[in-house]
Amino acid sequence: MKKFNWEKWPKYNKNHAKAVNEVIVSNQLFAADKVRKFEKAYSNYIGSKYVLGLGNATQGLQLSLHALGIGYGDEVIVTPYSWISSASCVLMQGAIPIFVDIEPESFGISPKSLERAITKKTKAVILVHMFGYPAKVKEISEICKKYSINLIEDASHAHGGKFKNQNLGTFGDISVFSLHQRKALPVGDGGIICTNKKKIFDDIYQMRSFGHKKLSYNYRMTEFAGALGLECLKNLDKENLIRRENHNFLAENLNNSIFRVIEPIKDSYAVYYSNLIEIDLPLKKQKDLLSYANSANLLLKRTWQPLNKNPSFMRENMNNNYAPWDNHYENFEEPNTLNLPISEEYQEKRLFELDCHPLITKKEIKEATEFLKSF
Ligand SMILES: Cc1ncc(COP(=O)(O)O)c(C=O)c1O
Repeated sequence: MKKFNWEKWPKYNKNHAKAVNEVIVSNQLFAADKVRKFEKAYSNYIGSKYVLGLGNATQGLQLSLHALGIGYGDEVIVTPYSWISSASCVLMQGAIPIFVDIEPESFGISPKSLERAITKKTKAVILVHMFGYPAKVKEISEICKKYSINLIEDASHAHGGKFKNQNLGTFGDISVFSLHQRKALPVGDGGIICTNKKKIFDDIYQMRSFGHKKLSYNYRMTEFAGALGLECLKNLDKENLIRRENHNFLAENLNNSIFRVIEPIKDSYAVYYSNLIEIDLPLKKQKDLLSYANSANLLLKRTWQPLNKNPSFMRENMNNNYAPWDNHYENFEEPNTLNLPISEEYQEKRLFELDCHPLITKKEIKEATEFLKSF
């Protein structure tokens, strides 16, 4: 049987090794000059006035909520389609995550469902550009302005992505990017927040490292992460072009009546942290297809399952059995009982992903598409 042997992302070269070695030799390992240089370089790259390096994006999301003054009793609208941090950060602040459904084009939060979910307690929306496919960020930022609520963009998958020629991560009040090893800027663990607002910057600056007066955290980025980030940033645009070419090649070769490679919404510049594929087969056949692909080492995966059903959001798994919605509502629908039909249909039954990162060649993609279609 055919066995695929795709390279793993990322692959570092001698420039990356030199950058890391410089940190070791300098004997300055916690945040200093390299982190500052990286923050400046990212600020120039994205066009945000203030950029701060942190230990990871989860910390960035939590501090974003903190900087917006969000806490006990406040509601934050979140998506069921993301990594857990995009919603667990709300619980970390003692606030209430309100899950609303996604829409079936960008797979981001649905603007219509969002508008219906806004209440007097809503303080912010966390919008995710899943897998580097831009969400309907313009429409959503207009809704946020209309209701005077804050917009946080979780752009952890979307470094270098754009909508209508504007960089993702510059539409909201704050944006957060992950620099985890699997991401397009892979430093091991790291995160950045971007904002144009001085007050937000000042608060996060204080909170990330033993703020002088306020109780705060140690959420600093390391010098290693800063040095690697600087080196990786030099290759980002070039690598994003390869991600886009690989995506188009995958679609050209795979699309048929069963497989549909998902395309981004109009006016998008998507950066394909992964490629979404809709597979029109009964669930049993999908399972067989996954076994067929995985036994050949082809990493076709079912996409992320609805977050509102994640056990972390269930009362019995909360600390001391306390949920932040206690004392605020007479009847609160627990997240796992919500009816979010688009999320359920696509995340549970239709969507798969295949990561064709920049180290994967066209020949390998071609072989993979032929293999999948021969199932
Ligand atoms: C969309 C999204 N947001 C946030 C995070 C959290 O990132 P980190 O691992 O840097 O905390 C991830 C991690 O995969 C993610 O995919």
